[in-house]
Amino acid sequence: KERAVANLNDLIRNIPDFPIPGIQFKDITTLISNGPAFAQVVDTLAERYAPLNIDAVVGIESRGFIFSAPLAYRLGVGLVPVRKHGKLPAATHRVEYELEYGSNKLEIHRDAFPTGARVVVIDDLLATGGTVAAACELVQMAGGRVEEVAFIIELEFLKGRDKLTRYPVYSMLQY
Ligand code: PRP
Ligand code: MG
Repeated sequence: KERAVANLNDLIRNIPDFPIPGIQFKDITTLISNGPAFAQVVDTLAERYAPLNIDAVVGIESRGFIFSAPLAYRLGVGLVPVRKHGKLPAATHRVEYELEYGSNKLEIHRDAFPTGARVVVIDDLLATGGTVAAACELVQMAGGRVEEVAFIIELEFLKGRDKLTRYPVYSMLQY
């Protein structure tokens, strides 16, 4: 398959001191506004997960939705949102987690998928791992099985993988 974009790294914009001093923010808007680059990212994920017999793609609000929705479409499976608290209307499971800056609660619908569903969890960025660890816990509470967790960007120095030893972890770009 033709790869139209030479280097995805060049399309990640670094913003120093956002949202607070000392944080080097990795901005994906410059990647997703590039059509061939966005397609390449989604195609790479689709090729990776097509053989795994995935039943559902779980996307983490909000930046995870950007990549999980087209992936689910490409795989021909459903999209299950993990959302910040108070957003999902039906009965939920809820988990509190720590962020790189601050804390939050995430929720999933209790009836999101059938017991034993094979799930891939998608987010844009792996930092400390708190967000995706909470999302994986929610998937399990709802009866799903996490086959893999995948990110566009991994901040390796924050050692998020140490929180994810129970699942295979895939990242496309590392910093
Ligand atoms: C960011 C990012 C990941 C998470 C990574 O989301 O999109 O979801 O932080 O951090 P962690 O590995 O330390 O948990 P954020 O909560 O800022 O919100 P957003 O996706 O809605 O922008
Ligand atoms: Mg996020």
